[in-house]
Amino acid sequence: MDDLLSQPVLEARHIARHFGAVIALADASLTLNKNEVLGLVGDNGAGKSTLLKILSGIISASSGEVLVDGTPIQLRRAQDAMDAGIETVYQDLALVDTMTAYQNVYLGREEISKNPVARFFNLVDDRQMRQRAREVLDSLQVKIPSINVTVKGMSGGQRQCLAIARALLWGRRIVILDEPTAALGVRETGQVLDVIRELRKQDVSVIIVSHNMQQLMSVADRITVMRLGRSIATRTVKDTQVSEIVGLITGAIPGDHQQEAETALPA
Ligand SMILES: Nc1ncnc2c1ncn2[C@@H]1O[C@H](COP(=O)(O)OP(=O)(O)O)[C@@H](O)[C@H]1O
Ligand SMILES: [Mg+2]
Repeated sequence: MDDLLSQPVLEARHIARHFGAVIALADASLTLNKNEVLGLVGDNGAGKSTLLKILSGIISASSGEVLVDGTPIQLRRAQDAMDAGIETVYQDLALVDTMTAYQNVYLGREEISKNPVARFFNLVDDRQMRQRAREVLDSLQVKIPSINVTVKGMSGGQRQCLAIARALLWGRRIVILDEPTAALGVRETGQVLDVIRELRKQDVSVIIVSHNMQQLMSVADRITVMRLGRSIATRTVKDTQVSEIVGLITGAIPGDHQQEAETALPA
């Protein structure tokens, strides 16, 4: 029982990936626990996005292992990750401008990528769809003017929140966010961070990449630091400081040497 409760929902073990001669990832590991927000940090080119793309099934690993609930899984395509309960929110978001908020939330990325209009008219119960979308948005306290207006005029923060809400509607248990607030202003960023906190309350675990340490430390439980394609340290947010994380990122503070970053800090 204890084992089951403490079992990570997602683990990446010793992931490597090269693109021709370029080594994007040399040896990256991370652990995501249930009800946890894990921050992933590192300098530009450290390999964060590559690792997240591997966990999203967008690209394959050259070597290493990914486990969900302790079971190794094969991630050959994005659908494999989604089937395993992993949702990735991309910066371009894949929202359809001409559709309303609720339609965007209701439609999975899979469906949007097909003919969205045709797809929409095939979806039967519009009322139920609306209801469900509203429930999800309310539960996450997403503040938008109306679920019935097109998303075209919505702010970046609102759009980001809608894309995140979609993960919940589809019952995903793991949400991956690569720099979700990079293009947002202060208020909008706050909105997105609040939604991330709500997600966690609803048993969704989150991996988030951000360069803003203050923000990250306000939302994350632990932070894994990457440098030059390796995960070099993991810190519990309440036991660290921005200066330590920055030192680890730049190399001013050495990493933990253990390749399994998650074993770096025994309780
Ligand atoms: N498709 C690709 N082809 C060649 N090199 C790539 C590709 N994707 C990433 N890289 C390289 O891999 C390294 C890690 O990139 P990335 O994962 O995007 O880092 P980060 O997200 O931490 O900034 C960089 O040196 C980058 O140039
Ligand atoms: Mg990146």
